Parts: sequence; structure tokens; C-alpha cells
Amino acid sequence: MKIAIDGPAGAGKSTVARALAQRLGFVHLDSGALYRALAWVALREGVDLGSGADLAHLLATCRLAPLPDGVSVEGVALGEALKTPQVDAAVSQVAWHPAVRSEMVRIQRQWGEGRDLVADGRDIGTVVWPEAEVKIFLTATLAARAERRAAEQPGLDLAQVEEEIARRDEKDSARSVGPLRVADGARLVDTTALTVEEVVDRLVELVRPKP
Ligand code: DC
Repeated sequence: MKIAIDGPAGAGKSTVARALAQRLGFVHLDSGALYRALAWVALREGVDLGSGADLAHLLATCRLAPLPDGVSVEGVALGEALKTPQVDAAVSQVAWHPAVRSEMVRIQRQWGEGRDLVADGRDIGTVVWPEAEVKIFLTATLAARAERRAAEQPGLDLAQVEEEIARRDEKDSARSVGPLRVADGARLVDTTALTVEEVVDRLVELVRPKP
């Protein structure tokens, strides 16, 4: 069974997807971490973020692989390094290239083959697994999303975080391949006024409705 959770930056997708997967005994695929990992290697290697061909070549050679709940590059798991402002600033540009996206979709489908999983991202219900049994579009106001991001990384200026998220949403929504949009058949869940627990309860109810 596949559960697809899409939505804008800071809506709580990864936190909620991880908790939901745990409750259901499924694995969690954090697709944003894949794009972040490629941005991280590209910055490290000084690859031109404007070149889809160079990024696709890097993706084919850096041994990027999903892990349950994370990602590894060259066999090494990456964690907090993926959450830096430098990666935040680069990732939408990396994710914009069709050549990068098509390979990322292939990697995700291959990894998910035969697995029960909860995957979160921007194009899971529209492109990666349009046949997912349950599709959710998780959203919240821009202010709430910026506050959550800022709380995760103390020291960041709230107004700047808000600006950065709005810029990323705009770029993620405007691209021609795999743009952020509500998938056909997706249920909209607004998390602005809900705790993580409350969101997960609601999603469990969508996945396994009480008789
Ligand atoms: O979910 P996140 O903030 O970690 O995602 C980081 C970026 O990766 C996001 O700005 C857009 C891109 N992304 C994407 O284009 N497609 C996905 N399925 C997941 C993430």
C-alpha cells in the first residue's frame, strides 16, 4: 500500500509522514531529502546548479539512495547537513530540472517496489505514485509554516524564513515538470491549528476508517 503526502514547505509533511508510517508499521520515504542530498553534493562539488545535464550526471554517479526515513550518498547517511540555509536556498533550483526529476522518480519507484510506505514530497500523488491508495495534501498558512521552520532552527530570522518559504513555494509550483499541486482524489488537510498528534490521528482515520 502506498500513501502519498504532498504539500508546500513547512506544512509538517515529513514529521507527520514519519509518525504515520510508524503507527501503520510502514516505511517512510522522505523525497525532499533526496533532492536536498543532491543539492548538498552539488554544492560540495561546485557543480553548476543551472545545468540539468551536470546535475543529472552527478545524480547518476554519487550513489544517492533512499533509506527508511532518510538518504545516503556514497554509502554515508546524511542528516542535519541537509537542513542548512545553503541547501534550502539551492534545492528548488536543483529540483527544477526535468532530467533530475525523471531520475528521482525512477529511484523512488524502484525503492518503493513491493513496500508499504508513506512518502512525502511535492509530486508523490501526481507523478511518483498517482495510483496511491490514499493521497493527502497537507497545508497550513504561510505564517504557521514559517514559525515551525524557525522553531526547528533557532537563530533564524522569522521574516527571512517566511520570505524563503514563499520563494520556494513559488518556484516549486511554477515549474513545468512535477509542479506542486493537489493530486486528483487527494484529501486536503489544513494543519494550521492542529498538533502533530491530531494530524496523525486524522490521517490514520483516512487510511483506516472506523467501521
Ligand atoms: O520537503 P522539503 O522541504 O525537504 O523539500 C525540499 C525541496 O525539494 C523543495 O523545495 C522542493 C523539492 N522537492 C521536489 O521538488 N519534489 C519532491 N517530491 C520533494 C521535494
